[in-house]
Amino acid sequence: MATEVLATMSGEEMIALSKKHTLFEWTAQSKVDPIPVARAKGIYFWTPDGKRFIDFNSQLMCVNIGHGDERVVRAVQRQVETLAYANPFMATEPRARLGAKLAEIAPGDIEVFFFTNGGAEANENAIKLARLATGRHKILARYRSYHGATAGSMMLTGDPRRWAAEPGMPGVVHVLDPYHGIERGWDTTEQSLALIEETIQLEGGHTIAAFILESVTGTNGVLIPPDGYMQGVRKICDKYGILMICDEVMAGFGRTGEWFAINHWGVVPDLITMAKGLTSAYVQLGAVGMRRTIADHFQDKVFYGGLTYNSHPVACAAALASIQVYEEDRLLENARRMGAVMTELLADLAKRHPSVGAARSLGLFGLVELVRDRAKKTPMAPFNGASDEMQAFAKFLRQEGLYTFVRWHTFFTNPPLCITEPELREAFGIIDRALEITDRAVR
Ligand SMILES: Cc1ncc(COP(=O)(O)O)c(C=O)c1O
Repeated sequence: MATEVLATMSGEEMIALSKKHTLFEWTAQSKVDPIPVARAKGIYFWTPDGKRFIDFNSQLMCVNIGHGDERVVRAVQRQVETLAYANPFMATEPRARLGAKLAEIAPGDIEVFFFTNGGAEANENAIKLARLATGRHKILARYRSYHGATAGSMMLTGDPRRWAAEPGMPGVVHVLDPYHGIERGWDTTEQSLALIEETIQLEGGHTIAAFILESVTGTNGVLIPPDGYMQGVRKICDKYGILMICDEVMAGFGRTGEWFAINHWGVVPDLITMAKGLTSAYVQLGAVGMRRTIADHFQDKVFYGGLTYNSHPVACAAALASIQVYEEDRLLENARRMGAVMTELLADLAKRHPSVGAARSLGLFGLVELVRDRAKKTPMAPFNGASDEMQAFAKFLRQEGLYTFVRWHTFFTNPPLCITEPELREAFGIIDRALEITDRAVR
């Protein structure tokens, strides 16, 4: 009954009722301008009146396998019919199978998993595990980072989304990233590692439980660490007995062409967090994975953590089916192949459009930084701000049926991993035309 009502609503009705009775995130409600969405398939979604959008951000960098895959739909249906829920003290087949499957694909000896409802809770539990396992309290995190919006994860987060929640959980120390924004650019690996080690010495290495970092930073700029950085972080963590936590919530599950982005640097973290692409968002699920040594700590010590929906059978079934799709359709290979095409398309934009100040990608994880001055590299919108040009750019994409994430002076190119070359080129054709708007603002 409820779905019939939803299916018969117009876009205007969806928007009006959603705005009247539900709260939209990260925004003043009067500024909200949602796209009404009725259905989705592959790399596309449609409004109720049939306008088609290319989903060039996989919604929130999460529908990695693409929309409406029948294999996942059927797996979810079967699981709901058989066993929709069992409490977390029970053992179930989807839980058992998913733990074993993740142990197979996770880096190194990461082979024990705790399941959550999403990425923020995965990070909450990662720091809980790290504190319990080390007996230390402080957590290092980076400024250009997002780790989720729950109380603890919000404090791990380095970007401006943290500010309104302060003061929060104590004990988080933020360190600078190798990247300092488009105007200042990148530190070398050595400079960046030296800053981290200096901070650790000043804080007292013996007081720090863990260093959490996104393997490839997501919303703060698709920041791909310079060569040697991740290996260096691993060495510093080992030197001071600090656990290394890689947040792979956005970068994991094929987005960069590997199961996990950290694999690009051959590093095994102590803990790894994931969500989004784990189920490709068909059902919500997150997880924190840990090395055997950390899991062993909890053989005779209590793990003080729990969630009603921990190891939810339907979510675990969705994850298993989604992982099977990555494998059957060779989506990691496709992300690498289409990623190479995307790198060329991004370089071509940078060559032809004066407003493109920087463009980078790894696999199908891409971002463009727009500038209004090519020499000084002045961003097209200020840090944590907006501009008329960026708004006009976003409006054009929307009119032309391309959805992506436009943030500050940047926009993202993160399509589902099943995208084909003609589809990729079609999307870049729209972006190409949109950039004429920002080009006009360049001095
Ligand atoms: C790197 C990273 N970590 C954690 C999170 C939080 O995940 P969730 O929104 O599922 O709580 C996100 C969400 O975008 C993320 O990108």
